[in-house]
Amino acid sequence: MTDPVLVTDEAGVRTIALNRPQKKNALSHKMYALMADALLAAEADSAIKVVIFTGTDDCFTSGNDLGDFLGTPPDLTASDRPPVSRFMFALLEAKKPVIAAIEGPAVGIGVTMLLHCDFAYAGKEAYFLTPFVNLALPPEYASTLLLPFAVGPKKASEMLMLGEKVSAKAAAKMGLITAMTATGGALKQAQKTARNLAAKAPEALRLTKQLLSMGPETPIARMNREGEMFATRLQSAEFKESVTAFFEKRDPDYSKCQD
Ligand code: COA
Repeated sequence: MTDPVLVTDEAGVRTIALNRPQKKNALSHKMYALMADALLAAEADSAIKVVIFTGTDDCFTSGNDLGDFLGTPPDLTASDRPPVSRFMFALLEAKKPVIAAIEGPAVGIGVTMLLHCDFAYAGKEAYFLTPFVNLALPPEYASTLLLPFAVGPKKASEMLMLGEKVSAKAAAKMGLITAMTATGGALKQAQKTARNLAAKAPEALRLTKQLLSMGPETPIARMNREGEMFATRLQSAEFKESVTAFFEKRDPDYSKCQD
């Protein structure tokens, strides 16, 4: 039987590919468990710098496996988290950059996932659907907070209350994705961004991601928080390597920096 989630590592980039094309990559409990394991292992492996999520050639995901969710509904409030929550919390708490590459439909939690990714690229034919209300369900995993923040409250209402289909072009315009690519080009663009990120100072990236994903606070509180981090990082091996590389007119190499 074909593996429904494929994991490959190359040059510091882990790619987690959904591979259940006969069901439009509908996410079963088993797939969520495999995705959570692959992501948590990437977080724990210092050789992995960036994670990419992708689907198959013509589909990112049709969202939750509706058969699974009807037959064995997960308890999202359970302290012993079901696989879907284990995965979504791992994604929420990921410290390394995460990129999504989308071709074809991204439905339901397939869109929610994007809100927790740092970058998302979608081929021209990709589209986005959040039909929670059409299934008589409310949205999940902070999408009611993050989607209005990403695209504005009126567009978020169109998506979450009406379940309207959003094209890749519209998604790029409203800020749901980073950029639209040619059809079939999303993964290539994701890999390009991943290589770029993998060469950067890991701790500086980690802190930047942490700051970007924090909830709102007063400007003064944020300035103080950033100031503390900035002052600490001025003493770091990463910073010394960046400045040394600048004066030596070469690319920085952070592979030996231990901080
Ligand atoms: N869960 C379980 N099975 C699913 C599924 C899902 N979320 N989405 C698709 N499938 C299955 C279909 O039942 C069908 O199975 P079959 O061949 O045994 O009949 C197969 O995958 C192909 O789906 P189909 O609907 O024929 O593909 P399509 O290209 O015409 O449409 C979608 C693709 C994604 C637009 C459509 O399948 C869809 O709307 N799926 C449901 C999405 C959804 O509501 N997700 C939950 C959000 S919370």
